[in-house]
Amino acid sequence: MGLYSDKFFPWVLDAIESEEMAEQRRLFLSKVRGEILEIGIGTGVNLLYYPEHVRTLTTLEPSDAMRPRARKRESETGRIIEWLQGRGEDMPFDEGRFDAVVCAHVLCTVNDVDAVLGESYRVLKPGGRLHFLEHGISKEEKIMKWQIRLNGLSKVIGGGCQLTQDIEAHIRNSNFVIDELVDVKASSGINGVYTHIRGLAHKPS
Ligand SMILES: C[S@@+](CC[C@H](N)C(=O)[O-])C[C@H]1O[C@@H](n2cnc3c(N)ncnc32)[C@H](O)[C@@H]1O
Repeated sequence: MGLYSDKFFPWVLDAIESEEMAEQRRLFLSKVRGEILEIGIGTGVNLLYYPEHVRTLTTLEPSDAMRPRARKRESETGRIIEWLQGRGEDMPFDEGRFDAVVCAHVLCTVNDVDAVLGESYRVLKPGGRLHFLEHGISKEEKIMKWQIRLNGLSKVIGGGCQLTQDIEAHIRNSNFVIDELVDVKASSGINGVYTHIRGLAHKPS
């Protein structure tokens, strides 16, 4: 950990939030229910957008630097987080514990996407759901070229965030059954290099 990741990166995460992203967060969280695990909660932005009935959730987050901002959101929203420090590749939970696993802008950063998906699958109950809002490599060649050019910079300023991961392919190749998958319309300007997908997948019963 360094000065940038401890002091500035949590600030950056909050500073780049937009109305456009708020709407995507509302949409991808709208069907979340039951016992919830959010992987990599960061500064807790999703707490603002969970449906009203969600009062508690568990998170597995490697960075302690995120905690003060997330705790502030916890008290502002009245939602309680059970906070565990750890990585999605190796979850300290029993098989079949959760009804929902939530991940937003996390799979771009993790070291091993397949391991995180595998662990998410394991800790979900049969019928449990994975709710995702992620960004990855574009299907449009022009955008893809920019993503490849800017990937190194993104990793440095984005805490390891990669623009070139094919998250959709990882989810399609996992054991999850995809129920909904939406290509979010690309933003304008520099934000256009963050091409998002939003969706829902389940662990078969
Ligand atoms: C770009 S931030 C997104 C934060 C939050 N999910 C959001 O939507 O605002 C990525 C988050 O993933 C966390 N992270 C990085 N590697 C991880 C891993 N292997 N397992 C779980 N979380 C991880 C980071 O610490 C950071 O909080």
